Amino acid sequence: MDQAVPGAMNLHIALAALMMMSAVLAPLAAAVNYDEAKVPKYTLPDPLVMQNGEKVTSAETWRSKLRPEIIELFQTHVYGKSPGRPDGMTFKLFETADDALGGKATRKQVRVSFTGKKDGPGMDILVYLPAKSKRPVPMFINLNFYGNHSISRDPGIKLSTSWMGRRGGGVVKNRATEKSRGSNKSRYAIDMILSRGYGLATIYYGDIDPDFHDGFKNGVHGVFDKGAARPPDAWGSISAWAWGLSRAMDYFETDGDIDHKRVAVMGHSRLGKTALWAGAQDERFAIVISNNSGCGGAALSRRNFGETVGAINANFPHWFCENFKKYNKRVNDLPVDQHMLIALSAPRPVYAASAVEDRWSDPRGEFLGAKNAGPVYRLMGTDGMAADEMPALNHPIQSTIGYHIRRGGHDVTDYDWQRYLDFADNHYGRKKKE
Ligand code: GCU
Repeated sequence: MDQAVPGAMNLHIALAALMMMSAVLAPLAAAVNYDEAKVPKYTLPDPLVMQNGEKVTSAETWRSKLRPEIIELFQTHVYGKSPGRPDGMTFKLFETADDALGGKATRKQVRVSFTGKKDGPGMDILVYLPAKSKRPVPMFINLNFYGNHSISRDPGIKLSTSWMGRRGGGVVKNRATEKSRGSNKSRYAIDMILSRGYGLATIYYGDIDPDFHDGFKNGVHGVFDKGAARPPDAWGSISAWAWGLSRAMDYFETDGDIDHKRVAVMGHSRLGKTALWAGAQDERFAIVISNNSGCGGAALSRRNFGETVGAINANFPHWFCENFKKYNKRVNDLPVDQHMLIALSAPRPVYAASAVEDRWSDPRGEFLGAKNAGPVYRLMGTDGMAADEMPALNHPIQSTIGYHIRRGGHDVTDYDWQRYLDFADNHYGRKKKE
């Protein structure tokens, strides 16, 4: 069962194959491990122990001392430090339509200008709200991979004018065409989200930082980095994308139609890593959801299964801070592991989702990342994760730390959205509307 579907040659499998090939060519490169029996033993850092050895036993000390310390460790060693909210930032609502999606939605489009300069850098937020719903509306926010116009065929969505190169590739080219509308719509259960009484907001991640390594010249790095040399804890792309999500939250706080106290941040894959990091730092996100986020997301770095820290830093040198590369070959020396990232969202509900064929993302590592955040959640007075063992396929766990592993591969499916909507309903005390 734990096998890739023949023909489903997704990016992960292709990458894994590429890495195995390069392992043959370069004997120093490590082969990918997919054998549970060959995962070396490891010890996780205790998420309730300070760097000075002190054990934290109260929710108050977690909040005032340990949480800031762990954020700092992730900033220094993993993702890098981001600037805060820029002073000159402006929001311009450039479109509102009350008859979008055949009358099912109100569509809003907002230009966030990071510096307030007319031709300066910025991002477009696309917002759908259920038509005629009681306002303000609880929301899901998600960064998308292919432009706002890729999530629906809706002809009213502004075509992206930003970088649309191949993900991870270096092609600087805009490829947004009328034909590309809705090209990624299978990952956005818009009708379901709206009919359950939620809004959906999305932003093209390339508006914030194009996803290729150019020495941090383009995107928000080029605008906000100060000084000639970048320090080893300067923000990488994941931090930049997470920063963009917080800027969207800044906008939500100004929009009376949006319930900014009930915003769930949800992301897939590299953008699932980003959702976790955004939710960890910015407590304004009420719920945090990572879909198939893998290495650098929910999966434990210390587990050598599927993608490793060495592999991710080699293939995507711009995602994390420079310091993270020090751990390529000595991951056990990292002062943190990903269960501590998840714990930073406590006591807010957090969800990690896996897919059984997505072995590159290490489903068991994702489960263990979520589960081992439990002690912090329990200290904060919640139930943590209500499971000791990994659940069976398609048997979701809906405690304050939620988790599921579904059939299929690396993707966002309606099954995933159903679980996230149930999760939000449960935690907001809403009744499920069928
Ligand atoms: C690659 C990468 C993963 C990432 C994924 C994605 O497979 O190795 O870490 O999650 O791309 O973002 O699709």
